Amino acid sequence: MGYNTFKNAVETAKNIMKAYVKTGQIALDCTVGNGNDTLLLSLLVGEKGKVYGFDIQSVAIERTRERLRNEGLEDRVILINDSHEHIDRYISEGIDFIVYNLGYLPKGSKEIRTNADSTLKSIKKALFLLKKNGLLLVTCYTGHEGGMEEWKALKEYLKGLDQNVYSVLEFNFINQKNNPPILYGIEKNS
Ligand SMILES: C[S@@+](CC[C@H](N)C(=O)[O-])C[C@H]1O[C@@H](n2cnc3c(N)ncnc32)[C@H](O)[C@@H]1O
Repeated sequence: MGYNTFKNAVETAKNIMKAYVKTGQIALDCTVGNGNDTLLLSLLVGEKGKVYGFDIQSVAIERTRERLRNEGLEDRVILINDSHEHIDRYISEGIDFIVYNLGYLPKGSKEIRTNADSTLKSIKKALFLLKKNGLLLVTCYTGHEGGMEEWKALKEYLKGLDQNVYSVLEFNFINQKNNPPILYGIEKNS
């Protein structure tokens, strides 16, 4: 790994994803957006694996479906146009890898964004679905309206997780200006 390992939170998340996700695994993208993470995950899990993807915006789901179809990857991805706080309505199997990229759709409406309440509800359910040795990544943005509140609520919740069950790591770029995104990595130990 070179300099890009620590370029920013999104690149760091991507590098962790590439190092962790293996063929045949089951992954979950809780904020599909433009589909960048969903697409990468679908390549990493291979044809024997499976990816679930959630977004509240149909435009994000349809755009991502189109990208997957163009790459011949749609068969291994289940896209769901619903809030990620409802993941338990759609998924009952254990998940190896889960990713959240909070906030709003780039170039979309800033009004349609993740929020503290539904994010926490979703993360609690996601941690329940996460398999032993599974990994969950969350990228948080504090610069937009509601972002700081969401980050504080999330950090407070993660700080309280039992260390016998979860290892929680914060990747915070402390020498970057203008509210750089903060990444959390949570590993389930038992
Ligand atoms: C920063 S974008 C995600 C970018 C994406 N990871 C990518 O690779 O393009 C955040 C996305 O979260 C979605 N979102 C907001 N609230 C949500 C919720 N409650 N459940 C699911 N998705 C939500 C937004 O519609 C937006 O598309």
